[in-house]
Amino acid sequence: MTLRTSPEIGGMGHAVKRKEDPRFIRGQGTYVDDIELPGMLYLDIVRSPYAHATIKNIDTSKALAIPGVLDVITGATLAQYNLHWMPTLMSDMQMVLPVEKVMYQAQEVAAVLATDRYTAADGVAAVEVAYEPLPVVVDPFKALEPGAPVLRTDKPGKTDNRIFHWEVGDKAATDRAFRDAAVTVKEDIYIPRIHVCSIETCGCVAQFDRVSGQLTVWMTTQAPHAIRTVFALVAGHVGLAEHKIRIISPDIGGGFGGKVPVYPGYVIAVAAAVLTGKPVKWIEDRMENLQADSFARDYHITAELAAQRDGTLTALRIKTLADHGYTDAAANPSKFPAGLFHICTGSYDFRAAHVEVDGVYTNKPPGGIAYRCSFRVTEAVHTIERMVDIMAHELQMDPAEFRKKNFIQPERFPYTSALGWEYDSGNYGAALDLAMHKIGYAELRREQAEKRQRGELMGIGISSFTEIVGAGPSKHFDILGIKMFDSCEIRIHPTGKVIARFGTNSQGQGHETTYAQILAEELGIPVADIQVEEGDTDTAPYGLGTYASRSTPTAGAAAAIASRKIRDKARKIAAHLLEASEEDLEWEPGKFFVKGSPERAKTIQEITFAAYTNYPQGMEAGMEAVSYYDPPNLTFPFGSYICVVDIDKGTGEVKIRRFVAVDDCGNIINPMIVEGQIHGGLTMGLAPALFEEISYDAQGNIQQGSFMDYLLPTAMETPNWETDKTCTPSPHHPLGAKGIGESATVGAPAAIVNAVVDALWHLGVRHIDIPITPQKVWQCLRARGVTD
Ligand code: CDP
Repeated sequence: MTLRTSPEIGGMGHAVKRKEDPRFIRGQGTYVDDIELPGMLYLDIVRSPYAHATIKNIDTSKALAIPGVLDVITGATLAQYNLHWMPTLMSDMQMVLPVEKVMYQAQEVAAVLATDRYTAADGVAAVEVAYEPLPVVVDPFKALEPGAPVLRTDKPGKTDNRIFHWEVGDKAATDRAFRDAAVTVKEDIYIPRIHVCSIETCGCVAQFDRVSGQLTVWMTTQAPHAIRTVFALVAGHVGLAEHKIRIISPDIGGGFGGKVPVYPGYVIAVAAAVLTGKPVKWIEDRMENLQADSFARDYHITAELAAQRDGTLTALRIKTLADHGYTDAAANPSKFPAGLFHICTGSYDFRAAHVEVDGVYTNKPPGGIAYRCSFRVTEAVHTIERMVDIMAHELQMDPAEFRKKNFIQPERFPYTSALGWEYDSGNYGAALDLAMHKIGYAELRREQAEKRQRGELMGIGISSFTEIVGAGPSKHFDILGIKMFDSCEIRIHPTGKVIARFGTNSQGQGHETTYAQILAEELGIPVADIQVEEGDTDTAPYGLGTYASRSTPTAGAAAAIASRKIRDKARKIAAHLLEASEEDLEWEPGKFFVKGSPERAKTIQEITFAAYTNYPQGMEAGMEAVSYYDPPNLTFPFGSYICVVDIDKGTGEVKIRRFVAVDDCGNIINPMIVEGQIHGGLTMGLAPALFEEISYDAQGNIQQGSFMDYLLPTAMETPNWETDKTCTPSPHHPLGAKGIGESATVGAPAAIVNAVVDALWHLGVRHIDIPITPQKVWQCLRARGVTD
């Protein structure tokens, strides 16, 4: 089902616009860096060249001598207010500015406040910091060895670098299944550290009114309400109460999870605004963003599968080392230290599974953000889809047939996985069949066999992933104790025009369009009469924000539920106006009419006008409703991707010849937006598969600190994506919709790697870690005596 309003609207992200104060109204192309306020000061940050070092001295005299440099804020400045540390989303502690030592290269050391940007940068260059280097811990395995330097010396009694040990599943049953298995496979899989590269970097403008005590922060955040609460909790003791804090997210140039955390720059800008009483702007540059903001992935995984000889999977066992950098600042719901990694049984029916994850401190930037991903689902999908492929090859079964044999069958839904998730709905075989048909799978296998005879390298890779998106439900999901629901508030004015506000926050996903469509569909009011607003904590209802594809499953549902509350009231008013009983009225989008007498009707506009002018005695005036929607379950979108690669034996280059993506996100609200989400997501899946990685040398120096080395795919590297869909509605979502924002990013990498390994399996290659660079493939080929 596609909602009826779709074709008129198209795919633009900001179909519903508002013309008011351009400083903070969304949908106008106004970004934080466009905001200029009278008397504004600029903040720039001094960063550490060392990954681990004691700060012996910070000499600010030369910086302060520069005309226009007003102050240099250090850890000592913030320590006076107890603001030099702040809590992370995982209840660890993170430095705002250090007083004793730095823990990673590019860490914030001090901040220069100046009358303009250029002077602030000059001030940064003039601050002289004396460091005494300390031993650096880069390798998470070495970090756990006895005798490794203990990094978190701020934690009294901490004697090692382990952050947490977490297990889920039935260990005994899993071990038993492995003992009894006819076939087992085991592989070490590293999913490297990567970084969000949204078009707009992070930044804010903080303004403090000393008379009213009001703090307004325009900032690039995906979760304005949660940020306001965090600010109030962290800075309540210096007088910043929640009702005096207003967070406004103007348009945001992409978030992808990277704009969920609170970075030190935001806090320092706020502190500087409060201390000076002047507006302060902080905008990080591209290299700061890449080097210091929260990373994603960095999971060292050892995975094992057990199966019967006929190819029936029986058990999954995974051990993982999660490198968190110097603090656990992962953006996970509190209850899940490894996020939703335990969705790793994927689309397959396992009887037993057991997963262990150890979090480790190292001298790297913190993070563990959900980079276009529902809290580690990318790591989970990559692991299971690689392992299933390895097992199929090991058993000499076709990877498609092997998958189909082990899929959770459609009649098994709702299905509870061995690791405890209740999948809402799915039809994995239908999606794979469609993808195989579309790409011409059988013919491709024939072609591959012929080419192999001739010594040519061609591979076909499949990824039949299951996603898990839409956090809550609140009984399991919270962030820093704040339950994960989301909200929609609808106000219909007397003339039938609508303002609808949401607790989520679009970063380009097109909520202004799709939310308006939901309301138009539910209320029968034209989309042109509906204004959608998000991102202002003074006006929008409380919500947890937009990340992990949660908006449609939560706030999208809230829009439907709030609309239905409006309709309930409208029915009562219509009955009053038509002098009929409520039970005798029927609804069709836009009006109530008396059953059997369609001419006796009242439009929603007439009814709304009456809600202010002629409503029944005893009823409250007005036409407003709010829903704080707590989903009963997550939604489980899925898909099957098939990738065909040709490998150049001379250079090791992998060429993606075709890539077919079949997605299923239940009922679609706007096909064009969904298509756009999938295209972008596929390119973001291609990126880590073939290009992107952040690594460090033994001293903790970042090796890909700029776009010269961190290889973002451009249009040149991106193949033609061929997309299609199946539709398996969510049984519990009011619209039958599931999230879609990240499916493609999650599903694509394994299809690409599986295709490469499929091309090389006959040479004895079982696995190659991403990114699969030409150099890695070339070395692989040369090691096996393959030359051009
Ligand atoms: O939380 P986020 O908005 O990033 O992810 P989402 O809920 O998956 O939605 C991404 C975009 O696709 C939004 O504009 C949704 O309204 C739209 N969408 C849709 O049109 N139909 C669906 N079944 C799911 C999402």
